[in-house]
Amino acid sequence: MIFNPKHILGIKELSAAELTFILDTAESFKEINNRDIKKVPTLRGKTIINLFFEASTRTRTSFEIAGKRLSADTVNISASSSSVVKGETLEDTAKNIEAMHPDIIVMRHSASGACHYLSERLSCSVVNAGDGMHEHPSQALLDAFTIRQHKGRIDGLTVAIVGDITHSRVVRSNIYCLSKLGATVRIAGPGTMLPPGLESLGCEVFNNLADAIRDADCVMMLRIQRERQGAPLIPSVREYARYFGLNDNNLKLAKDDAIVMHPGPINRGVEMSSAVVDGPRNVILDQVENGVAVRMALLYLVAGGEKLQQD
Ligand code: CP
Repeated sequence: MIFNPKHILGIKELSAAELTFILDTAESFKEINNRDIKKVPTLRGKTIINLFFEASTRTRTSFEIAGKRLSADTVNISASSSSVVKGETLEDTAKNIEAMHPDIIVMRHSASGACHYLSERLSCSVVNAGDGMHEHPSQALLDAFTIRQHKGRIDGLTVAIVGDITHSRVVRSNIYCLSKLGATVRIAGPGTMLPPGLESLGCEVFNNLADAIRDADCVMMLRIQRERQGAPLIPSVREYARYFGLNDNNLKLAKDDAIVMHPGPINRGVEMSSAVVDGPRNVILDQVENGVAVRMALLYLVAGGEKLQQD
């Protein structure tokens, strides 16, 4: 299969075969991260700009490390230290950056659709590192990679995702990704954090944690996204933790070998107890580790993939 997309904007537009191809490509890059010399010349001469208009620890760092391990020149720009604070628009900022001839812009932005908007106006590749409440494709891919690593497959598994569903771009990308790869996806959260019509995306929807995680193979917990909420959507954090927090007791409802996932950042004691965060079922740091390999694969593929080696 040949798959060299110009952009990676979301999971919705990718087929199961394309998703599997990305995961297989990431598999081939993973061992580079365990070498003494963690560098290959694959993207030598390419320039990647990481343009982050929202805070990030994992995504920005791993895109930067991924680019550097492929020998690309990587440059980080954050909104707070750019001329955005002087009133420059997104389009003007991006066009000025493009005038310096980057090959790829990796962007995180608070507006849903911001990456699509740029991709229609720039000639370089755009990779979505999270846009508003829309999609976070590299997160869903690293989640799928981690599930495949621990379970050996995705097809036929049951994955429960619990938390602030309305405001989560991670959940939307994961519903698309895991459903296309053959998993049953269950969603749960308080009624005020469950958007109507979710079932139309192909998932099962529950209004309590117990029914969602019962006999699940994977339990993925999400934090409450206060930065995207207006008025409070829950009476108190304590009540939320009581009804929708994962702890050693309710985790027994999932399969004995169920894995526990979280995209980060975690609010300990809210969506997960510290005992679960630090417990034997969690694969959260594997998700972070796999994020580098998955992002290496995405950068490689948008830069031309196998065609790079023929040039
Ligand atoms: N999972 C995730 O997107 O984390 P960051 O916000 O730290 O990048």
